[in-house]
Amino acid sequence: MMYRPIPSTNEPLPVVGLGSWQQFDVGSSASDREPLRQVLTRMHQKGGKLIDASPMYGRAEQVIGDLTTDLRLNSSFFLATKVWTTGKQAGIDQMEDSLRKMRRKTLDLLQIHNLLDWQTHLKTLKDWKQAGKVRYIGVTHYTASAHDQLERIVKTEPIDFVQVNYSIRVRNAEQSLLPAAHEKGVAVLINEPFETGSLFRAVKGRELPAWAAEYGIESWAQFFLKFILANPAVTCVIPGTSNPAHLLDNMGAGFGQFPDQKIQAQMATYLAKL
Ligand SMILES: NC(=O)c1ccc[n+]([C@@H]2O[C@H](COP(=O)([O-])OP(=O)(O)OC[C@H]3O[C@@H](n4cnc5c(N)ncnc54)[C@H](OP(=O)(O)O)[C@@H]3O)[C@@H](O)[C@H]2O)c1
Repeated sequence: MMYRPIPSTNEPLPVVGLGSWQQFDVGSSASDREPLRQVLTRMHQKGGKLIDASPMYGRAEQVIGDLTTDLRLNSSFFLATKVWTTGKQAGIDQMEDSLRKMRRKTLDLLQIHNLLDWQTHLKTLKDWKQAGKVRYIGVTHYTASAHDQLERIVKTEPIDFVQVNYSIRVRNAEQSLLPAAHEKGVAVLINEPFETGSLFRAVKGRELPAWAAEYGIESWAQFFLKFILANPAVTCVIPGTSNPAHLLDNMGAGFGQFPDQKIQAQMATYLAKL
């Protein structure tokens, strides 16, 4: 697995992580949890580290905490979650709850989900970082309409991470937000890399171009993820899956060569012509 540094510390982070929205909101039965156990086991075997959760994702934080602890891998993962509420005390209570559910004394990354009451929570996050309860802090969103505001925060606040949507067909982030993050030394996580799965419907029954093999691309998932990783501002991409075979496929995008910007443009053109 290839690594890229988190700019604020230079800590290396594997370039493919895991999202947990919907996929990890399951009950406690063996049939619900076994595929997710496999997902986490294979992710660890392939060298993946970052798992992104949120209190918005139902039982996901608890399931991640339980399974990583059962597997004795809790401290091997880079656990990221979010605060998603309004008001200072409600935010603190929610973050304490996340620590308990994810079975940690320290979280690796806490992000303000969709910028909800972000000025209030940012103060708390700075305090928590100072106190050592969280190693990194950040903000997230998933729509282009929020990119200007994310960019202002990236330029003016001492955050470590910004998480944003970016994909081969939804490219607004690359105009100004990603360059700003690169310049300010803010790590970038990419959500919805498959446009929540609609990219797979767009290429159903279509062949990969022959030249994709030169970049070690063996599937459409790897095509879409390597397109994103071709952007040097991107630190880690977090595709969501509950399927162990898909997990292995996605981790595969973290190996081999990444396309340069010329090939990245060629990838987008190829897809647009299908
Ligand atoms: N505001 C925010 O902070 C925010 C907003 C949106 C998302 N996020 C984060 O970003 C993560 C990723 O976004 P997302 O989950 O919404 O969408 P996504 O990663 O773009 O797409 C997930 C979909 O793709 C499918 N998939 C995954 N790998 C595949 C593969 N190799 N082959 C075929 N299908 C595959 C999944 O189904 P299977 O389960 O069947 O594989 C699922 O239906 C989320 O899970 C969440 O952690 C954060």
